[in-house]
Amino acid sequence: MREEVAKLKYMFNPRSVAIIGASRSPKKIGYEIVRNLKEYGFRGEIYPVNPQAKEILGFKCYKSVLEVPGPVDLAIISVPARIVPKVLEECGRKGVKAVAVISAGFGEIGNIELEREIVSIARKYGMRLLGPNIFGLFYAPSKLNASFGPRDVLPGNIAFISQSGALGIALMGWTILEGIGLSAIVSVGNKADVEDADLLEYFSEDPETKVILIYMEGVRNGRKFMEVAKKVTRKKPVIVIKAGRSEMGARAAASHTGALAGSDKIYDAAFKQSGVLRALNFEEAFDWARALSKLPPPKGENVVIITNGGGAGVLATDACEEHGLKLLRMTEDLMEKFKRYMPPFGSPKNPIDLTGQADENAYKGAILEALNDPRIHGIIALYCHTIITDPEALADAIIEAYNTAREKKPLVVNFVGGEECNRGMRKLEQAGIPTYPTPERAVSALATLFKWARYAGFIKAEYE
Ligand code: ACO
Repeated sequence: MREEVAKLKYMFNPRSVAIIGASRSPKKIGYEIVRNLKEYGFRGEIYPVNPQAKEILGFKCYKSVLEVPGPVDLAIISVPARIVPKVLEECGRKGVKAVAVISAGFGEIGNIELEREIVSIARKYGMRLLGPNIFGLFYAPSKLNASFGPRDVLPGNIAFISQSGALGIALMGWTILEGIGLSAIVSVGNKADVEDADLLEYFSEDPETKVILIYMEGVRNGRKFMEVAKKVTRKKPVIVIKAGRSEMGARAAASHTGALAGSDKIYDAAFKQSGVLRALNFEEAFDWARALSKLPPPKGENVVIITNGGGAGVLATDACEEHGLKLLRMTEDLMEKFKRYMPPFGSPKNPIDLTGQADENAYKGAILEALNDPRIHGIIALYCHTIITDPEALADAIIEAYNTAREKKPLVVNFVGGEECNRGMRKLEQAGIPTYPTPERAVSALATLFKWARYAGFIKAEYE
């Protein structure tokens, strides 16, 4: 790891955090960050800095970072832009290792000189600088929520990097609602110093991160990004939502974060060459990330669909063909095995149709059979809600099959139905089985896992 990247450990695993511009007023950014740090349970020292205050949220306040008694690894800066150079100088003199500049009012509004000035101060003292123009950062293992976003982020294995502040904050809340766990959230804003390539390299070595997901409007140094991405994607999947695909969108990106969106075709080609998985929207990106962060890579190309509904099976079959997933051609002996879990009018071909009268035992038996057969490398289980089966009991049966199988294999599930289905889906998700509300989304997620596994060399590429 490059030395300047290794320094990011002070950002994500700091022993102590100073909040410069910690406010006495609830709802102000500088107050909410102290509150998030405290209430999310940050384990290290918390030092609010505010020349006017004595105490904030029970923590002793310091007039300047220079007055803080112990060492400071990370400083979160939330004072108006014009004061940032002064407090940054103080951070440098204090020996702070990394800073995150929340303040807006730099390059994004044409204040290029001010942005250059803060970068040069940070470099003079060897500090890494995140931002400016950001909502903060989160890192689950150190219980660090140094952001003014929602507090109760779920810990997990997806590192989410966002160039957009508002969208990033909104997605923090959305991931909680969807039950998606994150290892890290990093608001990169203007990327004046720390940029995507640094974070890719850092998170590629982070044991808590299994997938890296980036919302990007533009990169500063395309060549560097590609060089790093090429190496990282062989080790961990990298998903990018690159906004500004259209001409109008590119113009909107330029006025949002000052990003040079560049030609979309160039980005597309660069992503393909470097193994980056490009998602068109955040729903798709997180659908993929859930599968890629939870499931093992497949060892071969053969997929089976197990369903209780012919229609869902046909939709999934179409989606498999569109996404380059290969449905296993069933042999006589395999069909005989699956016949045991269906009535005589079921179909043991692929899709394996257990019929509308399938109960949880039929699903459990068929899924376990598929998991234990070495000719099958991936499973799509579809369920259309019928009164015969309780979705929660079905979820328990699928979880039992998954946990008792001889080996873990990629398994995605789709439940279609009402509120009862949602409860079953949440159970599956919590048990580490990615679950989706439509057959197509389940197929797209599994297909992306296969695509990455081919790229990273887990299976030989038969399909492009
Ligand atoms: N050192 C430490 N604290 C100081 C100093 C100093 N030198 N000088 C002033 N302070 C204190 C202030 O007294 C104040 O505390 P108080 O409320 O107890 O009096 C606190 O620091 C904050 O200073 P304010 O002048 O009140 O500034 P305010 O909180 O209104 O705004 C902020 C600061 C949030 C950084 C603002 O300038 C800003 O840039 N806002 C935009 C942030 C943003 O949008 N980020 C982008 C991504 S997020 C997104 O897009 C949704």
